[in-house]
Amino acid sequence: MLTKPAEKYRPFPPVDLPDRQWPGRSLSRAPIWCSVDLRDGNQALAVPMNVAQKLELFQALVNCGFKEIEVGFPSASNTEFAFNRRLIEENRVPAGVAIQVLVQAREDLIERTVESLVGAKKAIIHLYNSTSPAQRRVVFNMTRAQVVQLAVRGAQWIHERLPRLAGTDVTLQYSPESFSATEVEFAKEISEAVMEVWQPTPARKMILNLPDTVEVAMPTVYADQIEWMCRHIRHRDALIVSLHTHNDRGTGVAATELGLLAGADRVEGTLFGNGERTGNLDIVTVALNLYMQGIHPGLDLSDLNAMRAVYERCTGMSVPARHPYAGELVFTAFSGSHQDAIRKGLTEWAARSRSAWDVPYLTIDPRDVGREYREVIRVNSQSGKGGVAYLLETEFGIELPKEMQREFGPIANDRVDALGREVTGAELKAMLWKEYVERDAPYALVDFRAESVGGVVRCQATVRRDGAEVSLRGEGNGPIAALVHALNTGGAPRFEVADYREQALSAGEEAAAIAYVRIKLGDGRTRWGAGVDTNIEWASIKAVLSALNRC
Ligand code: KIV
Ligand code: ZN
Repeated sequence: MLTKPAEKYRPFPPVDLPDRQWPGRSLSRAPIWCSVDLRDGNQALAVPMNVAQKLELFQALVNCGFKEIEVGFPSASNTEFAFNRRLIEENRVPAGVAIQVLVQAREDLIERTVESLVGAKKAIIHLYNSTSPAQRRVVFNMTRAQVVQLAVRGAQWIHERLPRLAGTDVTLQYSPESFSATEVEFAKEISEAVMEVWQPTPARKMILNLPDTVEVAMPTVYADQIEWMCRHIRHRDALIVSLHTHNDRGTGVAATELGLLAGADRVEGTLFGNGERTGNLDIVTVALNLYMQGIHPGLDLSDLNAMRAVYERCTGMSVPARHPYAGELVFTAFSGSHQDAIRKGLTEWAARSRSAWDVPYLTIDPRDVGREYREVIRVNSQSGKGGVAYLLETEFGIELPKEMQREFGPIANDRVDALGREVTGAELKAMLWKEYVERDAPYALVDFRAESVGGVVRCQATVRRDGAEVSLRGEGNGPIAALVHALNTGGAPRFEVADYREQALSAGEEAAAIAYVRIKLGDGRTRWGAGVDTNIEWASIKAVLSALNRC
């Protein structure tokens, strides 16, 4: 890297808009969405989608609720043209959905583009040419006036051919490509020149798309550019102002959101942000950002996993694990304190009759987008006892007593730490079983009988101690007390039972009960034990022996 980057790179000049209004506004409704997955997204793929993949993605976009879908660049290749024709001739475009096609300001390309749309019910013809100083100089080698003339000629060639699409509801769209790198005054001049040809009205608007083709500045600058255009352009009321951001500085979503505050009506983007270089705007993120503010985006994102699967299948791209809302790990907490807060938050939310969502660390309820609570908490060495207890409870219905959680949490953590990876609920349960339920040395239960005579319970227990069977007798006010007496008089360390809980385990192979016992030794130490059996009395006896075996 350069020690003096200023010798090579210059800051982007700010827009002169001291009375900007957008910072004081907030969003209250969803914009018009236009998916450009099949065009901008597709052209950025190492292996572009084949027709079957394009058709599948088109259907998924329709199902999601997109009413405007840029389907391609029909003049660019026979495949693109054929795809357009197939959509129209096979009647695959539902009423109310407009297919959008992109074209440059060249007569032969415009001719072919119009031809590709014959028979469509609703279409958007999208004309573009680049306008930034670098593009004018390097690509076109044209003056500003020549570039305006190029756009005007393109607009005329389209306008002249509209009678050929007599049965089609056509909307016209113009993009001064690289708008955000263009002087605002020139963007206004060229856009107004195109408007002059197309003559939009408030009743028959045209779309003016203002692309952030390459992010060159902070999103606040883009917002200023959009507000400047909305306030200065002639006949604003005859325009649908549209945003088309990319993500070069990682702020495509922010630029779109601020651009909406600045007065735009429409947003172009792709699912999960596929697109050239760092991608197009991710529509899913912007839509769910609105949703989490209580604004319905007008798109159905209630099965995000399915949508992600279609996207991955069709594009060959993958959604990163940390991607907002859709990433594998988004609703997963690894840190113990996060897990604890989420658990308390979910419990409190349920207790508040599921009113306004305010659960720490979860921006939205995962179930609203078809994801699961089960994904919320996994356990690794960073997790605390809360995560361990949550997983045992949600996956197996095992409700460890709070004090036992404190004992088992660090034990589980040490084992997970040694494994050096995340563990599943089943692995945690196996650890619990190994530590408590399967502890059968030195004492293992062979037989236990108890009878109550005159309020006193007498027991006869047969245990295997260090491999040899031993018969013990004792009495007390219940079976557990009788066993403790039998053990204490039969040579075991002296102890008493300090805590006892039991619960039924959920149905399944172990349609059984689990008992938890905490014993207190003569020297003050305490230990938990657990026993499982289809007979609750046996479960509690096993729990006592388990605790004793852990001393
Ligand atoms: O990024 C861009 O500017 C484009 C235009 C064609 C709208 O994709
Ligand atoms: Zn683009």
